[in-house]
Amino acid sequence: MTQDEAKRAVAAVAIEAVRPGMRLGLGTGSTAKHFVDLLGELVRDGLQVICVPTSEATRAQAQSLNIPLTTLDETPELDLTVDGADELDAHLNLIKGGGAALLREKIVAAASARMIVIADASKKVETLGRFPLPIEVIQFGLGATKIAVAKAIEAAGCTGPTRLRLAADGHPLVTDSGHVILDAALERIPDARALADNLAAVPGVVEHGLFIGLASEALIAGPTGVERLA
Ligand code: 5RP
Repeated sequence: MTQDEAKRAVAAVAIEAVRPGMRLGLGTGSTAKHFVDLLGELVRDGLQVICVPTSEATRAQAQSLNIPLTTLDETPELDLTVDGADELDAHLNLIKGGGAALLREKIVAAASARMIVIADASKKVETLGRFPLPIEVIQFGLGATKIAVAKAIEAAGCTGPTRLRLAADGHPLVTDSGHVILDAALERIPDARALADNLAAVPGVVEHGLFIGLASEALIAGPTGVERLA
């Protein structure tokens, strides 16, 4: 099975959790894209759901599939969000934001009664941190924010450089909400909660990619099938 086939397989298991009338959060990324494609097929066949996308890319995909969309202003409580992850550990703590959508992803996940993470087996780790941690910051005062972020990282027992994420054109990547992203290459995050708390306390940090206690279950596609973690 290729990695993309694994992503499709796990999305196909997640789609079984969808029920008529559900209010859904739609994730971002190549795995979530498969889920949205499958949802589009069900909607075409008459399934009624209402969805909040976590990025402009997912909004465009959902609109192209005629999936009914809403906002968290109109529909502030969701039944289920299905989203991918860049890393997950055995406690369902996640790193997200590789696709730069972490801010909306976290708001949507927090508004959902349930969050199912869908991932291929390469995303499962013993300790979070191999994937550089995305930290969304406002553009004002970036130099000062970088220093404060470095101190927050160090105080949580982590080390490693933090780099401004660039877009394909070489300019700083700007998120859907108009911010920029610092990627912290930490290798190992011994205490994710401490790091999350430290980063959240830095002025200028809008959100970080540590999702702690938000996922209810994970579906992980490996060579022997789909494993469920809950
Ligand atoms: C986007 C995300 C994605 O869920 C994460 O990057 C996983 O993406 P993919 O399914 O393409 O591996 O957090 O901000």
